[in-house]
Amino acid sequence: MRLFSVLSAVGGILFSSLAAAAGEAPAVYGVSTPGTSLVVKAEQGKMPRFLYFGPSIETPDIDFLCRAGGPVAYPVLGLDCATDAALSVVHPDGNLSLDMAVESVSLSSDEDSEILTVTIRDKVYPFSVDLCWKAYHDVDMIEARTVIRNDEDGPVTLTRFDSAFLPIRRDAWLAHLSGTWAGEARLTTEQLELGVKMIADRNGVRNSHNSHAEVMFGLDGRPQENSGAVIGAALCYSGNYQLRIDTDASDYHKFFAGINPDNSQYVLEPGESFETPPVALTYSIEGLGGASRNFHDWARAHRLAHGDRERKVLLNSWEGISYFITEQAMDDMISDLASLGGELFVMDDGWFGDRYPRMNDRSSLGDWTVDREKLPHGIGHLVQTAASHGVGFGIWIEPEMTDTTSELIETHPDWVVRIPQRDIVTGRAGAQVLLDLTNPDVQDFVFGVVDSLMTQNPGIEYIKWDANNSGRPNGADRYPADRQSRFYIDYHRGLASVLDRIRAKYPDLTMQACAGGGGRVNYGILPWFDEFWTSDNTDALQRIYIQWGTSYFFPAIAMGSHISASPNHQTARDVPLKYRIDVAMSGRLGLELQPRSMTDQEREMCRKAIGEYKEIRPVVQFGDLYRLVSPYDGKSVASLMYCSRDKSRAVFFWWKLEHFQGMSLPRVRMAGLDPARHYRICELDRIDTVPLPLEGLTFSGAFLMSRGLDIPVSHTLDPGHRTSWSSRVLYLEAVD
Ligand code: GLA
Repeated sequence: MRLFSVLSAVGGILFSSLAAAAGEAPAVYGVSTPGTSLVVKAEQGKMPRFLYFGPSIETPDIDFLCRAGGPVAYPVLGLDCATDAALSVVHPDGNLSLDMAVESVSLSSDEDSEILTVTIRDKVYPFSVDLCWKAYHDVDMIEARTVIRNDEDGPVTLTRFDSAFLPIRRDAWLAHLSGTWAGEARLTTEQLELGVKMIADRNGVRNSHNSHAEVMFGLDGRPQENSGAVIGAALCYSGNYQLRIDTDASDYHKFFAGINPDNSQYVLEPGESFETPPVALTYSIEGLGGASRNFHDWARAHRLAHGDRERKVLLNSWEGISYFITEQAMDDMISDLASLGGELFVMDDGWFGDRYPRMNDRSSLGDWTVDREKLPHGIGHLVQTAASHGVGFGIWIEPEMTDTTSELIETHPDWVVRIPQRDIVTGRAGAQVLLDLTNPDVQDFVFGVVDSLMTQNPGIEYIKWDANNSGRPNGADRYPADRQSRFYIDYHRGLASVLDRIRAKYPDLTMQACAGGGGRVNYGILPWFDEFWTSDNTDALQRIYIQWGTSYFFPAIAMGSHISASPNHQTARDVPLKYRIDVAMSGRLGLELQPRSMTDQEREMCRKAIGEYKEIRPVVQFGDLYRLVSPYDGKSVASLMYCSRDKSRAVFFWWKLEHFQGMSLPRVRMAGLDPARHYRICELDRIDTVPLPLEGLTFSGAFLMSRGLDIPVSHTLDPGHRTSWSSRVLYLEAVD
């Protein structure tokens, strides 16, 4: 019998049939998703053991695992300190050790999941930890986390407090993302060697520019896209994190994930519990692609605001107009967007500041009053203009920050984060400073920024929430000496509480998480947000790499992907419009330019592309992603496709990455189609003077996936229009 049916029969609890037959209390427990199971052994008086995480398991196999045993499910620093630990503490008497054992096991459920909780308790100190695994009914994702409780008679200092531990059988490979501002999500794939591999962030406020709290483990050698066993893990946290993979001579890589304790030791008061952020775990036998699709499904269903709502095609004003906002310019952009078929206009930075008008990045953050010089009729006028053109209106704010030149800092100098004894720490332009979101007054202010905009201009339907300042200050002068190190934990609690209030009052609002581009691409922030700004780098060629890496964990529906001007604002690279469109269409399409700077022909191309995107939008935003040729494989092309869930429609993207005479490009095999069905191919965003030889032809899914298609090296264009760039978007529709 499969585990999943056992689960439904016995209310979610799994147990060893051996124990049941012997009339003993079951010591083996598990939870299941549709395709995976996680099993632990929890015997009273002993530490719980981790038995299994993988494809759905059957009861006889559980019996075997039960006999075989496994590694400790949550290693604590205690009497046996031979290996790394997930938890270490200092008791009130200075004792550094923990010696814990199972106290109880419970299983609960809510409408979308089963939750297994194993409570372990120290044998001497009244100190306990709930180990929780939450398994979703509808997606292959299990969230692991802990709740740490101090019932001692004095404060316990948590010096390490990981959310989860997972033993991974050697020898595995690791795929992870790293980068920098405007060069985010660079993919590294490496074999795990002996020693500790650490992926960590200490930025404080945002956490995904330099590295990511999400990783993939290939269990069958170098991970492949569509085959092989892969475990994916994502720490769902927006603050400082630390992922460690400790490989020693044992059979397991020991994977730990949690809040970074380096600058966040936490003093837990008597009677206080600490809930760690979840680590989302997935297992796929369909390679990296399968694990990505599991993340995408889970995100759309459970971890993303409005994951079931189509995203609008928007124009963001930033790269088109910078700080030079005027009413006329905004009105023009709105009407231009409407004429292109766009659906939402977003006014970016530069619209605010009364005493200190926002003319550059050196002043005015915090003064969220409209600049009447620039916008004499206020935001209401722009909302109306947008409505009269049938498009929505959105606005940029950066409410967690202020500038050293602002009315806010003059009125509330104490709202700014300052480290005791030290000068204020500034960020962007040497002027930006962080507001102390641990302060309830600041929380009210930040909530009020959104609330005032929304109540004064009820038509606003989208907010771009930016966070350009790195945290940097470790500690804050509001805090007593022994609490300094918990500042960033409380900062993120403050942010969460503000976002909760905003979502309670404005559940329909669309919100974008931006943090100087991709600084907040994480599953800690996403539940409140519909999408993120993937990167401040809109260069189409570099975006292929950035979006490729990002797609490992995050779905296209959340990935802001805009057509921008050429030469590019960040890289100065000249890229033809066709290529820029073809890259942007593979995510949540938008525009990031001044439509009036385009030629009529370019505007017409954009108008056509937006129309075509609306047709394929359900496939891109809700379909299954299949990555076909990686830009990292040195094959001069990158390619991916999306297939609708019922496999009746698909969209294939192909981008050439380099160009030289006599180059030979690989034939690209598709994936995710129904081999038995037949698909008609139609090229979108076509610029060639003659159609591709495959235009309008019908192929079997089997042929497209086994033999694949040859895409020509170049476009066929009129002499005088030749280009070395080449890209294709093909739409596939089942005809039977
Ligand atoms: C950040 C964002 C950009 C833009 C600017 C405005 O860099 O990432 O998209 O909003 O701020 O100052």
